[in-house]
Amino acid sequence: MFLKTFVFILALALTQFGPAAAVPQVQTIGASRRDEDGHRLKLWLTINARKRFLEISWKNAPAQMGDNVLLTLQDPHSFERRTLPTGTPLASFACDEGSGSGDGAADYVPVQGYTRKPRIELATKESPALRQYWVANGGSAQVVAAIQPSLTTQWFTTGVPFDYALSRNVTTQTSCYGYWASYINAEGRILAKNCVRAYPRWMNELRSVVGELRLRDLFIPGTHDSGSYRPNFDPLLRESLVTKYALTQDDDIMGQLMHGVRYLDIRVGYYRASQEKFFIYHGITKQRPLQEVINQVKDFVHETNEIVIFGLKEFPVGFGKNLGVHRLLVSYLREQFQDLIAHPSLGWRASLRDIWSRQQNVILAYDKHAIVEENPQLLFGAVEQRWGNVQTWPRLETFLRNINDFDVSRFSSRPVADMAELTPETWDVILDKHGGLRKMADTINWRISQLYRDELGEHSNIVAADFIRGTTIVETAIEWNRRKVAY
Ligand SMILES: *[C@@H]1O[C@H](CO)[C@@H](O)[C@H](O)[C@H]1NC(C)=O
Repeated sequence: MFLKTFVFILALALTQFGPAAAVPQVQTIGASRRDEDGHRLKLWLTINARKRFLEISWKNAPAQMGDNVLLTLQDPHSFERRTLPTGTPLASFACDEGSGSGDGAADYVPVQGYTRKPRIELATKESPALRQYWVANGGSAQVVAAIQPSLTTQWFTTGVPFDYALSRNVTTQTSCYGYWASYINAEGRILAKNCVRAYPRWMNELRSVVGELRLRDLFIPGTHDSGSYRPNFDPLLRESLVTKYALTQDDDIMGQLMHGVRYLDIRVGYYRASQEKFFIYHGITKQRPLQEVINQVKDFVHETNEIVIFGLKEFPVGFGKNLGVHRLLVSYLREQFQDLIAHPSLGWRASLRDIWSRQQNVILAYDKHAIVEENPQLLFGAVEQRWGNVQTWPRLETFLRNINDFDVSRFSSRPVADMAELTPETWDVILDKHGGLRKMADTINWRISQLYRDELGEHSNIVAADFIRGTTIVETAIEWNRRKVAY
């Protein structure tokens, strides 16, 4: 009995992911808008959440006979064909083993069946195997996977594992690192390429384009439950029911910011008995100390001069009904962030240039009205989070389209965050119905990437995802922002 109650409470706690906002369900699907250079071939590299395999996706591919998508460990400048007897590991995958999507193939199930490791064909004495394969940069850059594209738009999970230690080495100088994907035709000409990338200064780099805009006018990548990560965690080794439903990200806060995230969803709990009083919580499961999160934001902002929305919400543990603990938290925030706190007199109407001119780059958006009123020199009101509270992709898609197509908030300056993740219900967690948040993220991350890239991105504001590295949201956001000045 005790155990059952405990499990129930645990599950209940784990499902406190967002307010159960009642959302009108309008069934009409808006007309799709195609982006301007929607015909250019583009490639993306992402990382899947469950196994941390690299994913390669593309759109507008010619998909001709002889085309290849090649994954390399260095930046490739040229490809040439080699014929060699092997022994040599051949990086080739059969197409039908991949996961991904065709044009409009909504019924495609992408999470079944990963590709195998590159096949090794050994020569026999009678017939030395002769294989033609591609090498990059005259043979100096290794090709670790090859895919023959069969569709113009695809999202493909390779069998190549990504090591997050690579991401922990990212600095404010980093752009491409680790892996490159190239689309080549039968002659070996590179038609498009991309890489695993950090975007430590994208706002400053777009300053001349977006400087006069408000935060509400930008497409801003965000993370859901940003502090629910665990350093050096490996889901293949240490996954439990708790980690399956508590962790939402693989990068720490610094890593998220380095990779382009600028909206953080911070759920603080108060733990009276410990020396460290404030922790990030997901539901009632304790995650990182708030101090760690704050330190990383401060370091990042000092180094980059980027603007970060620090969204404090939910206060799931230890705050009670009174305002006492909130007041403790606010004075802690003041002491910690000091001069970095954007003065609320700026208001949400402030342009990025206004914010930069004061060199106060951290916006404390606090989701407790009485506390915001008490602290007009420190706190902005909350960013509105738009929750679907749904468990399937079709319902999430409908929800996201509706809130974007019938968006009354567009006339306000206050930012809004589309919460682009599935939300398990209490009993789903108890029964492990969905296989965990990683699996749920893998089900939808490629889909939300395509939805915002192809249709919703032009007018969307903040989009917050689980396991953000499995999406192309950051690149899509930057691309849409780069074009803002034209409108
Ligand atoms: C990270 O950087 C250190 C120091 O430069 C290096 O020794 C290490 O191999 C790097 N790790 C990875 C995974 O690249």
